[in-house]
Amino acid sequence: MKLLKKIPAVVFILLSVQFYGKTAESEQHCGAAGPQDIIPAPASYEIHDGTFSPGHELKLFVETAGKPCSDAGRNLRQEMISSFREGFGTLPYVISETSGKSDADITVLSGTGGPDSESYLLSVTEDGISIEAPDAAGAFYAMQSIVMMMGMSETGDLRCCTVRDNPRFAYRGLHFDVSRHFRSKEFLMKQMDAMALLKLNRMHLHLTDGAGWRLEIGACPRLTEFAAWRPYRKWSDWWASERHYCEAGTAGAYGGFYTKDDIREILEYAAERHIEVIPEIEMPGHSDEVIAAYPELSCNGRQYGNCDLCPGKEETYVFLETVLEEVMALFPSEYVHIGGDEASKEAWKTCPDCRKRMQEEGLENVDELQSYFIRRMEKFVNAHGKRIIGWDEIMQGGLAPDATVMSWRGSEGGVAAASSGHDVIMTPNGYCYLNYTQDAPFREPVGMGGYLTLEKAYSYEPEEPGMTPEARSRILGIQGNLWAEYLPEDSLAEYMYYPRAFAIAETGWSPAGKKDFRDFRKRAAALLGILEARGYRTFDLENEYGERKESLHPVSHLGRGCVVSYASPYDGKYPASGPGALTDGLLGGWSYGDGRWQGFLTDMDITVDLGETKPVRYIGATFMQIISAWVYLPEKVEISVSDDGKDGTFRTVGTVSRDLSDTLDGLYFKTYDTVCDETCRYIRIRAEKPGRDGAWLFTDEITVN
Ligand code: ACM
Ligand code: ZN
Repeated sequence: MKLLKKIPAVVFILLSVQFYGKTAESEQHCGAAGPQDIIPAPASYEIHDGTFSPGHELKLFVETAGKPCSDAGRNLRQEMISSFREGFGTLPYVISETSGKSDADITVLSGTGGPDSESYLLSVTEDGISIEAPDAAGAFYAMQSIVMMMGMSETGDLRCCTVRDNPRFAYRGLHFDVSRHFRSKEFLMKQMDAMALLKLNRMHLHLTDGAGWRLEIGACPRLTEFAAWRPYRKWSDWWASERHYCEAGTAGAYGGFYTKDDIREILEYAAERHIEVIPEIEMPGHSDEVIAAYPELSCNGRQYGNCDLCPGKEETYVFLETVLEEVMALFPSEYVHIGGDEASKEAWKTCPDCRKRMQEEGLENVDELQSYFIRRMEKFVNAHGKRIIGWDEIMQGGLAPDATVMSWRGSEGGVAAASSGHDVIMTPNGYCYLNYTQDAPFREPVGMGGYLTLEKAYSYEPEEPGMTPEARSRILGIQGNLWAEYLPEDSLAEYMYYPRAFAIAETGWSPAGKKDFRDFRKRAAALLGILEARGYRTFDLENEYGERKESLHPVSHLGRGCVVSYASPYDGKYPASGPGALTDGLLGGWSYGDGRWQGFLTDMDITVDLGETKPVRYIGATFMQIISAWVYLPEKVEISVSDDGKDGTFRTVGTVSRDLSDTLDGLYFKTYDTVCDETCRYIRIRAEKPGRDGAWLFTDEITVN
C-alpha cells in the first residue's frame, strides 16, 4: 500500500486528536463531508444539523430481511466488512461485527425498500449510520457512499444527512482492451475496486483482437500457444513490422493470456463488488490473430494479411461456436459481446466461399453477408440462454433481432437502434473514448488523435434530443472505452481512466438535468486525491493546460471570409464548416475531429479569391500529423499568386518541404508559410500528400496578411 499523498496528512493528525468524541455543534461542519461531496452525485439527499464523528473502531450490525443469522445476512456482513476495510485501507479505522443493534455504529438492514436492487436509503445521525436497501447491491453502494464521504472528510466527520439513492441507468460500464497490451488479473481487480467506489457495474473485457488473443480455449490451443504472443512490445514497432506473432516462450515474446482459473478468480472478485464481467470475442473483423493461428478460417487461407474471418466457410462457424461454448460456460454474464466492428469485407467480395454463401442465402451484398453472420451467431448465443452485444456496425445489412447495440461511431447508430426497439449502450467516441488525449498532447502520453477533456466527457447526455419515450427506455446505459494501443504500462491506462471514468459514472448513475461541471470538477479533484492515496496513477487535473490556445479566438486576416475554390474536393467525412472553412477565421484545436480541421484524401489544391488585388506580405497554412490516425504532414506545399486567377498566370512565391519524420509517434503541427512582397488577387496552395494509401491531410485555415 502506498503512503497517503493528498488528503491524509491532515486526516492523520486530526484522527489522532479527536476521533474518540463528538465535536461541539458550532465547530462541527467545517471539514466534515457529506453526500454533496461524492461521485456519482446521489439521486436525492437532505443535509441536517450536526455531524457524526466516527471513532477509531466502528461496530457493524447487519440484518437481512429481519434475520441476522441467515446465510444471506452472513454473506452481506462479510461483504460490508471487506468493502469497508478496502475503502479504508489507507485510513486508520478498524471495523468489527456486533450482534447487538443498539451498540452498532453502522446498521445495515437489507431486504427492505423498493424494487431497484441497487437503491439504498442512508441516514447519518450524530449517533451513527444506518443503511436500508432492498438487496445486497444497494447496501454495497450505500457503503461505497460512506467510504467516499469519509475519504473526502478533512476531519473524519460526516454531516448528518438522509440520502435516497438509486441509479439512472442499469448499465454503467468501463471497457478494458487487454488485447493490445495484456493486463494482469491484479490490474483488473484493482480497477474493480475503483469501479465499485464509482458504482460502475459492468467490466467489458475486450479479450481478442489483432494484437493478441487473451483467453485460454481448451479446444483451440494455438490461440494461446501462438496468437497471444508477438515479438514487439511497442505498438508502433509491431505495426511497422510484418505484424507477425510468435510461439510462447520465444525469447522476447510479449503478450499473455488468462487461464480459466484466472478468469474464475476475476469473476469472483467482480461478483463481490456487484460487477458483471462481459467478455468480448471479436468477429468477423479484427481477427488477424485468429487467422494467424488457424489460416483456414480466412477467405484465401493465408496466415497473414487478413483481418476478417470468412463467413462463407462452415469451419468459421464451427470454430466460433466452439470458442463461444467455452466462453459462455465460463462467464455468467447475461451478454456476450461479439464485436462486429470495422470488418473490411473486401476479401468477401471475391472469395468463392463467400459468393456461394451469398447466392445460397439470397444475400445482395457483403453488408447482408455480415448481417447473416451476426444473426447466425446470435441464434447460437440465444440458444445458450444468453444475448449478444455488438458494436454499431452490426446494424449494417440488417440488425439481428435480439441484439443490443453499443453505439461508438457517434450516437446516431444508438438512436436508430433504440428507435427500432433494440437495447442500446451509449459509448460515442467523441464523449466516451478515454484513449483520446485529455489535455494538450505535448504534455500527454502519445494518443490516437482525439481530444476529450473531463468537461466534455461530463457533458454527455445519453438520451439524445428528439428520442421518443419508448426509444429512451431502450438506452440501458453508458460505457467509457479505453483502447490501449499506445498504453503499454498499467499506470498509463489508469491515468487515462481517472478522472474521466468519474464522468461516465456520474452520467450513468445521477439524475438527468442536474449537471454542474464546476461542482463536479471540485469533487473530482478530491476523489483523485483518494485514488492517488490508494496507489492509482491519475491525471493532474489541477494543472490542466486546456485546448490549443490558437483555437480559442477567431483570427482576423486579409483572407477571412474570402471564397475558396477546390481543384479536388475535401473529404465529406471531415468538411469542417464546408467550402468556407479555410477562410472562416477559426483555427482548429488538438483534434482533427473537432469540426475546425478540413480533411483531404487527395493532394490539396485550393485557390483563395481575395475579391480584389491587394498587397500581400504573408501566406500560410498549418497542417497536422498524427500517424496513429493516418494523418500526415504534406511532403511539400507550393504557394503561388496571380492577378487574374487564370491558368498559367500563377507565380510561385514559396515552396516548403516537410522537415519532420513521418514515423514519429505523437501529434505535431507545422505551418507551411512564406513571407512575400506581392500584389495579387488569387492565392493558390497545393499540398502534396504522402504516397501512403489511406493517408489524410488536415488543415484549418489559409492565413493571408
Ligand atoms: C471501435 O472503436 N472500433 C469499436
Ligand atoms: Zn470468404
